[in-house]
Amino acid sequence: MNPISVKVIVQGPKGVLFLRNPRNELELPGGRPDYGEALEVALIREMEEECGLHMSDPKYAGSKSCEVIPGKHVLLVFFYCQYNGQPVVLSNEHTAYQWVDINADRPETLPDFYWSFCKSVDCIASETASSTSYPLLTGELDRRRLQITSEIYDPVTIEFLRKYVPSTGRILDVGCGHGQIAQWIAKTSPLSTVLGLDVSANQIALATSAATGSGLQNLTFQVGDVRRLENTLPPNAYFDLITCRFTLLHTDKRAEIIQSLVAFLCPGGTLAIEEPSLTSLFCVPHLQVFEDANAAIVALGKKNGIDYDCIEDIWSIASGLDVDIREASFSQPTIWAKEHKALVYLSFEQFKTELVKQDLLDAGRAEVISRSLRHEYMDDRVISCGLRTLHLALSATGKSR
Ligand SMILES: C[S@@+](CC[C@H](N)C(=O)[O-])C[C@H]1O[C@@H](n2cnc3c(N)ncnc32)[C@H](O)[C@@H]1O
Repeated sequence: MNPISVKVIVQGPKGVLFLRNPRNELELPGGRPDYGEALEVALIREMEEECGLHMSDPKYAGSKSCEVIPGKHVLLVFFYCQYNGQPVVLSNEHTAYQWVDINADRPETLPDFYWSFCKSVDCIASETASSTSYPLLTGELDRRRLQITSEIYDPVTIEFLRKYVPSTGRILDVGCGHGQIAQWIAKTSPLSTVLGLDVSANQIALATSAATGSGLQNLTFQVGDVRRLENTLPPNAYFDLITCRFTLLHTDKRAEIIQSLVAFLCPGGTLAIEEPSLTSLFCVPHLQVFEDANAAIVALGKKNGIDYDCIEDIWSIASGLDVDIREASFSQPTIWAKEHKALVYLSFEQFKTELVKQDLLDAGRAEVISRSLRHEYMDDRVISCGLRTLHLALSATGKSR
């Protein structure tokens, strides 16, 4: 079998990032995974070691067996991501770096296998840029954070959803992430069929492999955008239950989305929404860094047209619709255990680069916040409160699409 090497296509405003190796050739950053290391983990490590870049949301772009030096074939596994503005800092493995415009002529020292592969994924670049504004990592890179989210919020979500899960029927979970809630529903209602939908192919890949491992036969996952359900679901797809947790928080046009979700309900079916208010987080005793981290994230959303404080918005949309509101309730969990508190730090780390880039925090303050969230906030004497969420169960009032 050919050895494997993971390679990253970092697309910046002036082209794709290439590094010059000691053979004077241009190559993509990346390298061989260590023994037992996942590809996604290897690529993060290699990117940090070789060019000092912290990766955000790499997407699988394909693989190709290539003759990297005469007589030596390597299976190159490519990932794609957009450049996030951090400075490139080379290690001593490379002598220089260069942004190469894939639409211009191929530099002489750039091997053809890299060139042809990059040209073939160039179309992914524009598609990825416009497809979603989701600011967080996806797939394996966000596994731990979503696992903690699940541990904190699932008990209350399950208590809420239990009332609406049919004993048999069709169920849709939109913005399913890694599929924990979809899995719980599939287990709870084995005679139902459950479909998890998420705009991110990385999330769907992870959700699918987790579900396959659990042996559930009534659960499938599909890539799809909640803003364009008509393009994703067949016209005759009606659901007895549609669930949506922590997803509308990341979208604009919530009124259109909620209306279209209601239109996909069977008569008597339920749309169960659970969405938060990001300004509801607090800790005791008061820690300024905790406040500043959340305020900066809320400001980033606003700057980019997304109001993370979505309870009011969602309530005003739902209460203005021609639907039966079967339930409206609030909850807010306590976050005290160290393993759960890590959620705050992990989330802030994912936003940090963008917060600095968009001038919402200066780099020094961002580092102070990171440090304090890992130390002061982790002290057992600090207790905190997670997101207040609004639970809404809506039913269509006998109307059909
Ligand atoms: C915070 S995660 C929540 C995941 C899961 N619902 C949960 O509660 O654990 C938000 C998810 O929404 C997905 N998402 C964001 N925008 C979306 C869209 N327009 N259509 C479908 N999914 C979307 C993201 O990819 C991400 O997996």
